[in-house]
Amino acid sequence: MNIQGQAALVTGGASGLGEATARELARLGAKVAVLDLNAALAEKVAAEIGGIACACDITQADSVNAALDKAEAAHGPARILMNVAGIGSAKRIVGKDGNAAPLEDFVRVVNVNLIGAYNISRLFAARCAKLEPMEGGERGTMLFTASVAAFDGQVGQQAYSASKGGLVGMTLPMARDLAQHGIRVCTIAPGLFATPLLKELPEPVQQSLAASIPFPPRLGKPSEFAELACHFVTNGHLNGEVIRLDGALRMAPR
Ligand SMILES: NC(=O)c1ccc[n+]([C@@H]2O[C@H](COP(=O)([O-])OP(=O)(O)OC[C@H]3O[C@@H](n4cnc5c(N)ncnc54)[C@H](O)[C@@H]3O)[C@@H](O)[C@H]2O)c1
Repeated sequence: MNIQGQAALVTGGASGLGEATARELARLGAKVAVLDLNAALAEKVAAEIGGIACACDITQADSVNAALDKAEAAHGPARILMNVAGIGSAKRIVGKDGNAAPLEDFVRVVNVNLIGAYNISRLFAARCAKLEPMEGGERGTMLFTASVAAFDGQVGQQAYSASKGGLVGMTLPMARDLAQHGIRVCTIAPGLFATPLLKELPEPVQQSLAASIPFPPRLGKPSEFAELACHFVTNGHLNGEVIRLDGALRMAPR
């Protein structure tokens, strides 16, 4: 699909990998809607790229539908959905105090990262499936953002890894489901990227994380994620696949 002129939605578009993706889409000529819980940051990014901010919570159907309506009124029906919003957590299943991890933490992370991404995807897909097909019968593309933690999660990452593993497991059946509608689905599993989250860590910690990456021994640039996300849109044969983007990193247990 040619990105130029298309309406695109980016969840988590107010920060980090989502922000970089929103910026790259805009650079390539897309009309970008920045969907994020953080309304103020979404407005800032949208203003800078000539897009529109749609404050929303991806876990809430009403909130998502309102955002999709707002984006569609401004840009027309979207054919590109980039699911980048997500949250982290670190909790051992049995804490140092001997107590079981609180269930609420697991539920919260899976609810945002997995169920939230599924929620907006099903609502987007239903709208996209009704659009006129373009060249080759294609109607749209949908990307998910997992993590290498889906495969090599570290100590304390049960909730995060389960949520990201859920996205990995969902990718192929979703691509198969949506094949009849001409909608492609892929997932990127990033390694360690220099987003606000990691930049808050002390410099020596950042350096030791970077040094753990075989090559290149540095944190990934959000722009590198954004380039692959946009390549997925333009490469019509890329479908049903999970792509690690990690400099050959395999995370150690801790
Ligand atoms: N940074 C990394 O190294 C890295 C590595 C692997 C995977 N990831 C994944 O990439 C994605 C982006 O990470 P990031 O580092 O850019 O994080 P970030 O915190 O900079 O950005 C995440 C954005 O998602 C938004 N968000 C959170 N919950 C939301 C909800 N319920 N509804 C709408 N928006 C919501 C936040 O407001 C925030 O703007 C996440 O899914 C993360 O798990 C990041």
